Amino acid sequence: MKTEFLMVKGDITKDHGVDAIVNAANTSLLGGGGVDGAIHRAAGKELLAECRMLNGCKTGRAKITKAYNIPCKYIIHTPGPVWNGGKSNEEALLGSCYKSCLELAVENGVRSIAFPSISTGIFSFPLDKAVKIAIGTAKKFVEDNPDKLDVIKWVLFDDNTFNAYQNELNGWNDSGEKSVAGNDVKSKKVICFHNPNEENGYLSNWYMSDFMIDGIKFSSLEQYMMYMKAVTFNDMESAEKILSISDVEEIKELGKGVKNYNDVIWNGVRQIIVYNGLLEKFRQNIDLREQLIATGDSILAECAVSDKVWGIGLSVYDDDRFDLTKWKGRGLLGFALMKVRDELAV
Ligand code: APR
Repeated sequence: MKTEFLMVKGDITKDHGVDAIVNAANTSLLGGGGVDGAIHRAAGKELLAECRMLNGCKTGRAKITKAYNIPCKYIIHTPGPVWNGGKSNEEALLGSCYKSCLELAVENGVRSIAFPSISTGIFSFPLDKAVKIAIGTAKKFVEDNPDKLDVIKWVLFDDNTFNAYQNELNGWNDSGEKSVAGNDVKSKKVICFHNPNEENGYLSNWYMSDFMIDGIKFSSLEQYMMYMKAVTFNDMESAEKILSISDVEEIKELGKGVKNYNDVIWNGVRQIIVYNGLLEKFRQNIDLREQLIATGDSILAECAVSDKVWGIGLSVYDDDRFDLTKWKGRGLLGFALMKVRDELAV
């Protein structure tokens, strides 16, 4: 299986569905600012305790620890070079950071890894040089070590850095390297969700998150969708009742009882209504927006066995959920979420 190269914009301390994340550390390994500080804050104090036992790390080398409160198995720490005008072997040292991290990842059975943009922050390494070294080193590693890694992802914190890496990756694709991150749906990762209190629950319509539309405050996408259903059929009594409660199960029942309901009309307008609601849910809640954008170009799938319209008609335990050709439902919610992600990622 080819290694998938992915670029996403976001915070590397969030859940990116990888086995390991890389920390752009310093040689003490005792934390600092930038991404190093963010990772130590998110992981908790046990990380520092383990790092203290490592006796530092040379520039261009890498050491591995547990991830503690960060949602992955390992953190691989690598001190990048401080830019000194290119007079101190910085380019070779940066390449060595990526190579050392990938070697350590493979030694520890890591199949998916996420990198920040090493050395291009406080260490001032020029971004245009760094992206070539980063992707070039990783491509060479994959060529020399086939089938060892499924995903190499960069999680980039700002638009400028994201665009630089994405353009470099596209350049690789133009030079004949097939990008598995392209439109080859079969090779794309499928991210599953269902109940709001389970993994990726924030994607569920039942996830509680306030947002405003036309001066009305909604507490969940479910409430917005059922309210709009009642308004569509001019059942204002049900619309008011739906707005007066927040319990999603009750709201769903009120939605089922909307008067003057017409299937043809609802089938025509429902996806537009859900798209508009999702756009505001994710636009107005930055933490949800960042998590959604961090899913990159993954396929999003609501794993609801009984729902063959908004869900895929398969459970989160069914291995067929990863193969769109085997879905039993239309998965409309996932596709609406992907359209919202495209809209908000720019
Ligand atoms: N998620 C992803 N990327 C991040 C995050 C984050 N939460 N926070 C910062 N970044 C980005 C920065 O915007 C930059 O693009 O990581 C990249 C690397 O920047 P730095 O964190 O400053 O790392 P670096 O340039 O390698 O300098 C390392 O800074 O934090 C200290 O202890 C660290 O001394 C070391 C030095």
